Amino acid sequence: MKIAVIGTGNVGSILGTRLAHQGHEVIFGSRDPRAAKVVSVVQSAGPNARADTNAAAANAAEVIILTVPYFGAEETIKGLGPLKGKVLIDTTNALLPDLSGLSLRAGESAGENIAGWAAGAHVVKAFNTVGTRVMEDPEYGDDRALLLICGDSAGAKATTADLADELGFNAVDAGPLTMARHLESLAMLWIQLAFVQGMGTDFALKILNR
Ligand SMILES: NC(=O)c1ccc[n+]([C@@H]2O[C@H](COP(=O)([O-])OP(=O)(O)OC[C@H]3O[C@@H](n4cnc5c(N)ncnc54)[C@H](OP(=O)(O)O)[C@@H]3O)[C@@H](O)[C@H]2O)c1
Repeated sequence: MKIAVIGTGNVGSILGTRLAHQGHEVIFGSRDPRAAKVVSVVQSAGPNARADTNAAAANAAEVIILTVPYFGAEETIKGLGPLKGKVLIDTTNALLPDLSGLSLRAGESAGENIAGWAAGAHVVKAFNTVGTRVMEDPEYGDDRALLLICGDSAGAKATTADLADELGFNAVDAGPLTMARHLESLAMLWIQLAFVQGMGTDFALKILNR
């Protein structure tokens, strides 16, 4: 699958590299595709990866993974060009700079705002509830880290769940895109547990059932 990963920071470099290693064609989108850090990310990702501008990466791909800071997301999305019919996976959390909370009003979510900016795209919220150490390796012995996803397109959610499963997650459909409000709150809870309650960044959640 042709996948554009927009943003070459912590999340973008890990997800893009791992998807390229799985055999997908990954185009890293960057504000400066020739920057040394981007060249190094592409090198680690191997022969299935390359870098280009954000717009060229998005244009070449069927699936776009948005891994930029939420507060740069509107400008980034508006620079991507036509998105009609593409799957856009939103990993963002609208975190306050000191990570003490989300900078959103009640009843608002980054995921829904992003869908409003990304006209015609099928937006799926995913990967926002896990830290980068979990993204690097979601497998815990025989268990897999829970990855909640939500969105309004069944097809886009199936594509996202397949990619997440390939990476080693247990992807679970949490419903429509309005559920992004709760997935983003869950990210806040993860941050509290990791950094304030002292659980560290290597833990993941799991659903028990009977
Ligand atoms: N870090 C985590 O553990 C984690 C976990 C879950 C979700 N998230 C979410 O995932 C997103 C990415 O997080 P991250 O930790 O990967 O961030 P990061 O390391 O700061 O990387 C973000 C990347 O976005 C690109 N970018 C585009 N517009 C930007 C702007 N206006 N300002 C800064 N960078 C911009 C940059 O790549 P170029 O320079 O190549 O354009 C940058 O490297 C965030 O929304 C975050 O809330 C993070």
